Amino acid sequence: MRAWRAAILRFADDGSALYEPDGLLVAGPDAQGRQVIRAVGAYATLAPDYAGVTIEHLPGRIIAPGFIDLHIHFPQVDVIGSPAAGLLPWLDNYTFPHESRFADEAHGRELATFFLDELQRHGVTTALAFATSHPSSVNALMSESQRRGLRMIAGKVLQDQHSPDGVRDTTEQSLIDTEALIRRWHGVDRLGYAITPRFVPTSSQAQLRGAGELAKQYGDVWVQSHVAENLDEVKWVRQLFPDARSYLAVYEQFGLLRDRAIYAHCIHFDDHDRELMRATGAAAAVSPTSNLFLGSGFFDYEGAQRIGFKHGLASDVGGGTSFSPFHTMLAAYYVGREGQTKPGITLSPGNLWWQHTAGAAQALGLEGVVGNLQPGCEADFIAINPTATPLLARKTQQAASLDELLFSLIVLGDDRAIERVHIAGAGAT
Ligand code: GUN
Ligand code: ZN
Repeated sequence: MRAWRAAILRFADDGSALYEPDGLLVAGPDAQGRQVIRAVGAYATLAPDYAGVTIEHLPGRIIAPGFIDLHIHFPQVDVIGSPAAGLLPWLDNYTFPHESRFADEAHGRELATFFLDELQRHGVTTALAFATSHPSSVNALMSESQRRGLRMIAGKVLQDQHSPDGVRDTTEQSLIDTEALIRRWHGVDRLGYAITPRFVPTSSQAQLRGAGELAKQYGDVWVQSHVAENLDEVKWVRQLFPDARSYLAVYEQFGLLRDRAIYAHCIHFDDHDRELMRATGAAAAVSPTSNLFLGSGFFDYEGAQRIGFKHGLASDVGGGTSFSPFHTMLAAYYVGREGQTKPGITLSPGNLWWQHTAGAAQALGLEGVVGNLQPGCEADFIAINPTATPLLARKTQQAASLDELLFSLIVLGDDRAIERVHIAGAGAT
């Protein structure tokens, strides 16, 4: 067993933030040999029970759960910052050409290493990631994640139509490849597989049907896609499926809405759609830096909270502009405040942080596994230095409440504040 003494941030079951200014976090193996949190609480209370355990003292640091990125594209590292007049030209002019390069396996391996380094540097310890349509891109990301002991979920993109040469796959082979990848990777060490239709326009009905059948057959595998991101995209889907009640309803028609199904964006929704999310157990990956960068629109937090469907935060790199959970939480705050196109609300710093940790875990069906530091959770955690930059130090030293402290970090923090990242309690990077 190992233990760390520092301030500790974690979350109660109702999503509220719990903060221990002088805490102790104890990690050790469970019955299956997984490194989990064995105890957490006030140092003064817990320390006598762990007298034989070496305690590492991190004065002035805040231990917090590793962040979870609910939606990110590992092959789009080099697409970040590519300007376009909206989603569809951005896909055509930048994204598809970049993703076509992953036909080369060596390119996939190089990017997988860079991508995971970058996630970890920013304190992200779990992600739900798109690969490309090339199965080797999944193998590259999974192999490197396995080597690092990460809890990572990823899938091969399905896109058999309205896609250029180089990224377009074929219906039958794409489903055969998906099933083979599920069998190879899902549940191996900490890895999980996600069935990954890119979005409705780029999959034939046969491919969507096949994806839905696999989602039924492999019930604990994840599903990930995009929905209702951009008005031109929504119009295109309406032309392709004129009888569908909405874009989201197309996914329902093919059996792709269920627990563990995560849909990026969910912007151009009505209350029927929100109710469908709630009723099916599907979750939204809110991607605010991407939505602001591509001019897609603003996620309606009031609607999500009122109807009560699962949601959490995502970078959506490379539509998104940053790997940093701090930047994503700040953008989510801006999006919540926006009150011209939908009701504007003020998200609390604790809620923003929850959406990127315990809330994201709940969206994945992994509550109590990752995204929190309650006993039994896997020991993925970070140590934050709240004095990493002069302005951050000045602001956090004046914080008179937990809300003020968390807000200072959200507004001013970046990768410089991530001092350590522990993966499942094993060593620090
Ligand atoms: N819709 C379909 N593909 C993509 C993608 O790669 N990124 C984003 N943001 N939206 C999409
Ligand atoms: Zn995306």
